[in-house]
Amino acid sequence: MRFKRKIAVAGLLIVMVWICSAATTAATGRSPGKGSGGSGGNAEPGPYSNLRVLPADISSKDLQKIMIDDFEDGLGVACNFCHAPEKDSVHLDFASDAKPEKEIARAMMRMTLAVNKKFFSIRRPLLGDPSLGITCNTCHRGTVFPDRR
Ligand code: HEC
Ligand code: HEC
Repeated sequence: MRFKRKIAVAGLLIVMVWICSAATTAATGRSPGKGSGGSGGNAEPGPYSNLRVLPADISSKDLQKIMIDDFEDGLGVACNFCHAPEKDSVHLDFASDAKPEKEIARAMMRMTLAVNKKFFSIRRPLLGDPSLGITCNTCHRGTVFPDRR
């Protein structure tokens, strides 16, 4: 338990550092997709056109699992919380970055991967992998603002 608490504290520190660096990135413009999370790197274009954190060649099954189990259920929101609608349509434009929540989610993804790597010694952490030490749900538990309850 003690140990867990220490990890939680360390995690929160990382969040703060990360939020600062995310703000810097936002101010200096977009960093090119590096696939910091996985095998991605400079992979050939997959079915998805705008992945900057997830591996570019991720399968649709794996991507959907992350979007539904980790993001929708983890934060207690629907797809349209992060994804903007197509122009004059009820359909969502999943590749669009028009909603700021999507970019915040990317920063959160990078932070979550970094904590897994640094504090749980997972060499190649991938979102959706059951062996992760922390996930979105570790903090969020079905709410958008875990710090405001
Ligand atoms: C908490 C925010 C969030 C929620 C909720 C969410 N997504 Fe996403 N989604 C993202 C982010 C961030 C990316 C980009 C990931 C990256 O850059 O690697 C993304 C990418 C995608 C893509 C790939 C688009 C492309 O071509 O690059 C699809 C498809 C997608 N989401 C579908 C969904 C669906 C379907 C739902 C609801 C079941 C959903 N998302 C819910 C944040 C979210
Ligand atoms: C170490 C704890 C922690 C983890 C892990 C975490 N989050 Fe968060 N997240 C927070 C906190 C705390 C806030 C609220 C910040 C605030 O009040 O502005 C937050 C806010 C957010 C927001 C912003 C909501 C808004 O409208 O401003 C999004 C989106 C989000 N998280 C997505 C994610 C996703 C997706 C993951 C997993 C990849 C994740 N978070 C993992 C702690 C965490």
